[in-house]
Amino acid sequence: MEIRVRMRRTRFYRSPFQYVSTPANSYGNRREYRSEKKMKQVSLVDIGIIIVGILGWLGAVSVNAEDPYLYYNWEVTYGTVSPLGYPQQGILINGQFPGPTIDAVTNYNIVVNVINKLDEPFLITWNGIKQRRTSWQDGVEGTNCQIPPNSNWTYKFQLKDQIGTYNYFASTKLHRIAGAFGALNIEQRSVISKPYPEPAADFTLLVHDWFKTNHKVLRRLLDAGKPLPFPDAILINGQKDSSVFTGEKGKTYKIRVSNVGIATSINFRIQGHKMKLIEVEGAHTMQEEYESLDVHVGQSIAVLVTLDGPLQDYYMVASTRFSKTVLNTTATLRYSGSNKKASGPLPAGPTYQIHWSMKQARTMRLNLTANAARPNPQGSFHYGTIPITRTIVLANSEGVINNKLRYGVNGISHANPPTPLKLADWFNIAGVFDLNTIKDTPPPAATPLRLGASVIGLTLHDFVEIIFLNNENSVQSWHMDGSSFYVVGFGSGSWSPDMRKRYNLVDGVSRHTVQVYPKSWSAILVSLDNKGMWNLRSAIWSRRYLGQELYLRVWNNEQSLYTEANPPQNLLLCAKAKHLH
Ligand SMILES: *[C@@H]1O[C@H](CO)[C@@H](O)[C@H](O)[C@H]1NC(C)=O
Ligand SMILES: *[C@@H]1O[C@H](CO)[C@@H](O)[C@H](O)[C@H]1NC(C)=O
Ligand SMILES: *[C@@H]1O[C@H](CO)[C@@H](O)[C@H](O)[C@H]1NC(C)=O
Repeated sequence: MEIRVRMRRTRFYRSPFQYVSTPANSYGNRREYRSEKKMKQVSLVDIGIIIVGILGWLGAVSVNAEDPYLYYNWEVTYGTVSPLGYPQQGILINGQFPGPTIDAVTNYNIVVNVINKLDEPFLITWNGIKQRRTSWQDGVEGTNCQIPPNSNWTYKFQLKDQIGTYNYFASTKLHRIAGAFGALNIEQRSVISKPYPEPAADFTLLVHDWFKTNHKVLRRLLDAGKPLPFPDAILINGQKDSSVFTGEKGKTYKIRVSNVGIATSINFRIQGHKMKLIEVEGAHTMQEEYESLDVHVGQSIAVLVTLDGPLQDYYMVASTRFSKTVLNTTATLRYSGSNKKASGPLPAGPTYQIHWSMKQARTMRLNLTANAARPNPQGSFHYGTIPITRTIVLANSEGVINNKLRYGVNGISHANPPTPLKLADWFNIAGVFDLNTIKDTPPPAATPLRLGASVIGLTLHDFVEIIFLNNENSVQSWHMDGSSFYVVGFGSGSWSPDMRKRYNLVDGVSRHTVQVYPKSWSAILVSLDNKGMWNLRSAIWSRRYLGQELYLRVWNNEQSLYTEANPPQNLLLCAKAKHLH
């Protein structure tokens, strides 16, 4: 019966974003892959990556045995970095800051052996990678035991049905602010047409804030219940005012920009050049032109830029948004052969214009006829016509618990139990969490925050409306693991069911991280088609560190390898799960 229901869904709501789990569909996939195999073998040499054979086995089951594997060994160490011109302690991956870029193609399998040479437990999470069927690999404290110092753990996951601009970062402590992050780009398969001409090359820009103070000192501040200071600088790819990207005059380049910072929204722009937006976190957008674009904490965009100016260098600028102090950083867009340095004032960007930002956000729309990871158009999933099974209203707040600053959602400040929620759930370990701690709506105003383990129970294939309510004066940024969602509305003030009339139910962009403006709300719709324990978190890291996060338990009682992989053989066990095997 369950199978029949799901097969009907598949026929009506075929989505490029959706993990469709029926056997019928995986048969379809296999045919698609076969026709593409020859082309792939040619292109592998070009991209110069090591693909160590094709294994027929990943985890417990593999329906896509023919997809290539990329293998990485990553050693995580402390090291010295000098982005501001003097040495500081950073966290390096294979000696690099930022860490190595993963350049992959849709459906590639990724195997990363993380060797932790720090003096603290460590985890990496893959921001925006949906981890279809593999909540086990999500790399957050609610899903994984941490990798102890001087040991290693190997992640294995597939970039199933995804394209676009992503990144990864350390999810533990404040490791990511010391540099433990990198880019993860997923190219479209060559058999699927792109909605834009092939660019001459890709440039990847990771924009991030930076602190003069050591990350352990900053962490002690948070542990003592004090806020973090404002960042001292923003950097592009670990450098201040010194990255250079060189292209040929007349050609068009794809520029990927991710805000991998922890604190501030940024605005990005290029002197003398317009940017054509082509992608937002894995969705192809209507290709509008922009002078500058806001990228909030945790978000990614990709734009096309044609080098159509006089032959010289130009500034690429990122500046902080909604902040009293405006921090700027530049990189250089160099026309090959240029001997004229970028000069003149930096192109100006918005600094506090919230309304401007909200208006711009509404212009980011899904191109309904474009393909993404699958040959069927993105718009074939008519999200606006699907009945909503549940509405959840989540309000962020700041409070004090035991005389210390904390942040929370619906009155609960999340504290991770020592036993990962996912393990407690899978192995039925009692006393770790329950589904009654956090409610679907905020408590009455002035209810004091309390500590708890926040898990919302949902059923596989629920179609959920989530309203993020922000009654505070600062911009929020919310990220969801496991699924992307449709952003259907932004509004000022308070939300009421009446606001649904204003929703964009046709071409709202699908993404994994959404901003919520001060004293405003943002609304999303999400099809929960991926079983697992998924982190819904503030991307603003001090807030998340002090409790502004929760987990979505997406579940049904049918145990099937089509909907969820078994725990990997190398599963780390800890706390109350330590003695299981
Ligand atoms: C640790 O690394 C070794 C290879 O250096 C590998 O054989 C082993 O499987 C890794 N351990 C885990 C738990 O992934
Ligand atoms: C930094 O950027 C802001 C916003 O565009 C601008 O107001 C300010 O003048 C810039 N600072 C410098 C040094 O260019
Ligand atoms: C939408 O995608 C189609 C490809 O299906 C492309 O031809 C078209 O230019 C795109 N439209 C916009 C406005 O980006």
